[in-house]
Amino acid sequence: MRGDRSVQPSQSTRRQGLGSLIATCAIPLVISAALSTTSVRAQEVTFTRDVAPILFENCVECHRPGSFAPMSLLTYENARRYAPRMKTKVQTRQMPPWHLDRTVGIQVYDNDVSLTDEEISTIVRWADAGAPKGDDRDMPPAPRLAEGGAWQLEEQMGRPPDVIVSSAAYDVLANGQDQWWGPTQRFEGLDEERWIKGYEFKPAYPNGLRVVHHGHANLRFADQTLGIAHYGVGKRYETFPDGTGMLLPAGEAEVNWNLHYFPVGERVDGDVVDVGLWFYPEGEEPEIETRGEVLMRVDRMNGMPRGGDILIPPYGQQVLQGVHVLRRPTLISSFRPHMHMRGKEMSMEAVYPDGRREMLGKVSDYRHIWQLSYQFEEDAKPLLPAGTMLLFTSVFDNSEENPLNPDPNQWVVFGRRGVDEMSHMWVGVTNLEQEEYDRMMAERQERERRIAARDQDDDQ
Ligand code: HEC
Repeated sequence: MRGDRSVQPSQSTRRQGLGSLIATCAIPLVISAALSTTSVRAQEVTFTRDVAPILFENCVECHRPGSFAPMSLLTYENARRYAPRMKTKVQTRQMPPWHLDRTVGIQVYDNDVSLTDEEISTIVRWADAGAPKGDDRDMPPAPRLAEGGAWQLEEQMGRPPDVIVSSAAYDVLANGQDQWWGPTQRFEGLDEERWIKGYEFKPAYPNGLRVVHHGHANLRFADQTLGIAHYGVGKRYETFPDGTGMLLPAGEAEVNWNLHYFPVGERVDGDVVDVGLWFYPEGEEPEIETRGEVLMRVDRMNGMPRGGDILIPPYGQQVLQGVHVLRRPTLISSFRPHMHMRGKEMSMEAVYPDGRREMLGKVSDYRHIWQLSYQFEEDAKPLLPAGTMLLFTSVFDNSEENPLNPDPNQWVVFGRRGVDEMSHMWVGVTNLEQEEYDRMMAERQERERRIAARDQDDDQ
């Protein structure tokens, strides 16, 4: 199983492989370029031919007029102004937002939006060359973008949500500290229980996307509470694979909202968040029940010695670790670190019952302004036996080296405000029965055997 994960090339390495092939083919071109000036021009990186396709594919979904991102990158005139900043942001891999450590842990994710090395180098060379425009005739057609406020899952699911739950409106001040909004509302409920296939948490477009920092919607029934949707900037939805679902009981409930707003210098009145739920067809019962994203706290954990002791000195650093023991066999589908402005790194490791320790995933360039969920590809999801410990490590940096640090002179303690600290990991958890675990493990081993046999055939 481990081999399977580390051997499988990620989408970007596959794409990089192709890139280096192209680079090899380009060598004869370099030689002929010396012979004529027109082919020298062909070597230049231009906006219309080389850069626009990368931006259209990877950036303009957010960077378009009227969106929540700072500027549009749809036109040459705009993009040129931002060329030096684009260079820095793509070189440091802060844009597109994907802050995974590429040197350790699992590298295959369904929602990996990172650029290839080739794409980064194209943008860097273009910026260094003074951001030339190139030939208008090379400009690709403007991309067809979904309407900004559309449900992102609508296309994948083939229909709008089956149920929509909306939060009571909230007025966000122009300036001030963090604000919380936790209304309790009535949820009329369904006549019969249904299985959730996916959910989306949709702040209003575009202003809600700027002010809602993170949020949760919980349904409280008489005998249980169900987290139906969890949101953080950059993470909007979750879908469960076929055969896996979250059970929504029948009957009336309360919706408890937990919304964290952050003022952005401009009043936003009457902000409303929508949560959409998509169900399995009536009567269809998935074999496996999932809990979706589950909060695993590293701070203030019950029974964890010194758990609440986040205490970061001025200009200092702190490392905080905590474990959660998996009582049942478990399939992990995603992880989403949550810290605040001093958060720098957060990782999730598995400590197996036999003592082996394996890094599953690590975010090494954490930025509080993004709360990204890293969603493993199906075959790469960690499949862990009962008794495995998940070990979380957070690193906080209160020095002036941390670009998001509002004030390195302050002592920093645990708290809900962005200027205080937290250490939470939201983990996509599906607990399994022992037989389900054994079956999945056998399937993985069988697949690994087939791949190994095929590789051997290829070698001969
Ligand atoms: C998921 C939405 C999203 C995508 C995709 C995205 N960006 Fe951004 N970008 C943002 C947001 C929001 C900000 C402001 C917050 C920040 O800096 O992180 C930003 C900031 C930036 C900045 C800094 C702007 C400034 O004023 O300094 C640059 C440059 C940038 N993005 C370039 C890019 C490029 C190039 C791509 C594609 C390769 C890209 N972004 C993809 C949302 C996005």
